[in-house]
Amino acid sequence: MKGIILAGGSGTRLRPLTGTLSKQILPVYDKPMIYYPLSVLMLAGVREILLISSRDHSEMFRTLLGDGSRLGLRIEYAEQDRPNGIAEALIIGEDFVGDDQVALVLGDNIFHGPRFSALLGDAYRELDGCALFGYRVSDPQRYAVGETDRAGRLLSLEEKPAKPKSNLAVTGLYMYGNDVLKIARTLAPSARGELEITDVNKVYLAQGRARLTELGRGFAWLDMGTHDSLLTAGQYVQLVEQRQGEWIACVEEVALNRGFITADQCYRLGVEMAGTAYGSYVQEIAGRGGALSPA
Ligand code: DAU
Repeated sequence: MKGIILAGGSGTRLRPLTGTLSKQILPVYDKPMIYYPLSVLMLAGVREILLISSRDHSEMFRTLLGDGSRLGLRIEYAEQDRPNGIAEALIIGEDFVGDDQVALVLGDNIFHGPRFSALLGDAYRELDGCALFGYRVSDPQRYAVGETDRAGRLLSLEEKPAKPKSNLAVTGLYMYGNDVLKIARTLAPSARGELEITDVNKVYLAQGRARLTELGRGFAWLDMGTHDSLLTAGQYVQLVEQRQGEWIACVEEVALNRGFITADQCYRLGVEMAGTAYGSYVQEIAGRGGALSPA
């Protein structure tokens, strides 16, 4: 399976923070926002990733993540001229995806919860059509909203409904079979002028091939579209990391646990960040993984 991170958009709601910076590179407590969706793809076992950003910001991401080899990944870059809609990522990424299945994640979504990689693995193994991930929220009208039967089959789907049929929001993580590339090509812009990812998902819904897995209680799903939600996300990460001593979206740790890099490689990445709590954590988990630290 290939992965796409969509990290474009104009970030207007986060101005002036986004005056010169990409929204998805802004700090969420101790790491750039992009680490969070990147770690989600890595947890799903995806090693080949296309990062789509606006032209102005592409270079920043390249500087930050390079070709991905330090994390045992292959990262490629592409640009989206204008925010023409989330589904455009599937058109931009067509050649990159090739004959493969694809996981698409929005660059401003954070997922954190128990057994997340197992849940992603199950969704991947059982993928036939599309796999969506739902989360109960108090303000569903801000999102795509789904209704499911007991087996998790999707019954209905609406983008930002004024009168939501449930409080189950569809999160910004989507897994698709290869036929999604063809479906994306058939889309027409919506009333707001965008190629809607919800229209893609509705095709699978009509075919009875859309599943929605609910991320239950004890799970955190945060998207960061406003100053308040950005701060709240940072505070959440700080609280969990300081209280539990376990880092969220530490991409070096995920790479080590998934076997993408060795403990020694991981240790060296930690040493490069020596003098920070993050760097110490990376060295510590590398040590636990058997890295030979210098005496
Ligand atoms: O976060 C989940 C929600 O994301 C879903 O429930 C909705 O179905 C989906 O439409 C989307 O809703 P948003 O209102 O959050 O979409 P927004 O336009 O804010 O875009 C989400 C992120 O994707 C944002 O960081 C910018 C980026 N983006 C968006 C568009 C439309 C792009 O990079 N390119 C684009 O063309």
